[in-house]
Amino acid sequence: MTHSITAQVGSNREVSPQIYRMALKLPQRKITGQPGQFVHLRLLQGTTASILRRPFSIHRLTSGRLWLLYQVKGTVTRAMASLTPRDSVELMVPLGNGYRINRSRQEHLLVAGGMGLAPMLFMADHLKKVGLKHRILFGCRSSSYLLPAPTGCRVASDDGSCGVRGPVTCLLEAEFSRCNNAAVYACGPWPMLRATASLCRRYKVPCQVSLESFMACGVGACQGCAIRAADGEYLTVCNQGPVFDAELIDWTQEHTV
Ligand code: FES
Repeated sequence: MTHSITAQVGSNREVSPQIYRMALKLPQRKITGQPGQFVHLRLLQGTTASILRRPFSIHRLTSGRLWLLYQVKGTVTRAMASLTPRDSVELMVPLGNGYRINRSRQEHLLVAGGMGLAPMLFMADHLKKVGLKHRILFGCRSSSYLLPAPTGCRVASDDGSCGVRGPVTCLLEAEFSRCNNAAVYACGPWPMLRATASLCRRYKVPCQVSLESFMACGVGACQGCAIRAADGEYLTVCNQGPVFDAELIDWTQEHTV
């Protein structure tokens, strides 16, 4: 069930250059969510940034707190970075669908590119809770873009300044050569998702991807977030996704957010 709530900021810290982690205090009402679902956030301060809502993956969720991991790159996120524990924001939560755990598989590989790490910590918490073996594979451009991740996370960087040199799919392919009964859950930029989907198809590994898109309404009303499916039809990322089976998507299209 989706709730519309006002949530007070608990903390809001820069954890890496221009990357912030915000904890929001949830009201008494029970808010639940699945890894991969997102919130639509609106600022309450009287600035132009408060006119539109913005989608953010749920980074972590406990009974009293919801965390967001966000990058400062526009008016809204700049305004968010200035929020303090005296401030509140308005949220619609949770929205969209989440990752479906493929229990027929022995190992669960969480593949994150850059800010795609945001939903993967929630996913890792969830898999740990239900006792399923998992590993996070994280790819970034360089050590300047490294994000705080749990110990045991494998890292790849384009320039080799942290982890192994190369795309995150190098790490994924190494995992496939070790384990032939894995399921993949991916989130990140479109080219990385396309490469991940292609590799999974080649190794016949089930793969779910979380897609990003521009979102105005967040609830399937405006069609602004539509993406072309493999069958030529269109899917709305906000309410039919953001998580899709990789096989459902037409990966030949260009998609920028
Ligand atoms: Fe309006 Fe998806 S954002 S339909």
